[in-house]
Amino acid sequence: MANGIARSAARSVWHNLDGAERSLARRVRRIAAPLVQRWFFQDLIEKTGNFSTVTWLGRPIWQNVLDVWVLQETIAELRPAVIIESGTNRGGSALFMAHLFDLLGDGRVITIDIEKQHTVTHPRITFLTGDSVSPATLAAVRDALGAPAGPVMVILDSDHRQQHVAAEMEAYAPFVTSGSYMLVQDGVIDVLPSFRRGRPGPRPAITDFVLRHPEFAIDRERCERMLITHHPDGWLRRTAAGAA
Ligand SMILES: C[S@@+](CC[C@H](N)C(=O)[O-])C[C@H]1O[C@@H](n2cnc3c(N)ncnc32)[C@H](O)[C@@H]1O
Repeated sequence: MANGIARSAARSVWHNLDGAERSLARRVRRIAAPLVQRWFFQDLIEKTGNFSTVTWLGRPIWQNVLDVWVLQETIAELRPAVIIESGTNRGGSALFMAHLFDLLGDGRVITIDIEKQHTVTHPRITFLTGDSVSPATLAAVRDALGAPAGPVMVILDSDHRQQHVAAEMEAYAPFVTSGSYMLVQDGVIDVLPSFRRGRPGPRPAITDFVLRHPEFAIDRERCERMLITHHPDGWLRRTAAGAA
């Protein structure tokens, strides 16, 4: 009711503006919209403890809910045979993806964390413990991966410091099949002032990586799909087989 009144009041104000006033209003909106988005994003981050209190079917999943929806859309579109995730934490994101695979009828998750913090179990999930970039962990990932019959996607959500992300991108890029994605999470660290203590974070690692790896391109539409995102420049699509 209140919304309807506000909408009709706005319509009547707009109706009574002349051309110059409408053009000014459009310009003000263009300037104000990014600020409003930024303020809303910051408030949402504070309200949810940077999404640390979000749950998936009662299990903690440390993800921006808008980004998780984009992930769901990507999984439904790409139908990966395997998703390799670094950064298990309490297992919420791995479980989310495994449940999507249950609904789709196919797919596996391999998830890695330097320490075991989860109590989740699911037949589609292989849990590995170790430093994501250590030779032993990478050998275990290769073992668990086997020879999948469909696309392989990678999600990097462990230590978000530039150096570690850069090492992970190099180590995990060869697993990504042509046409599939590497999602490098939490470049927001390099954007929002409230995260500045974590810098340099993923973004400079992404910038360096794409310069050296022309077989990967940033999928900007996917990155910007929901206007606010924790993963600016984070969706990298492998456009060609490249050197593995
Ligand atoms: C942001 S949390 C992952 C959240 C999880 N993907 C989710 O959505 O619920 C990051 C995790 O990365 C792990 N981590 C940090 N450094 C790591 C490393 N070098 N190798 C593997 N995991 C690491 C931490 O232990 C932590 O649990």
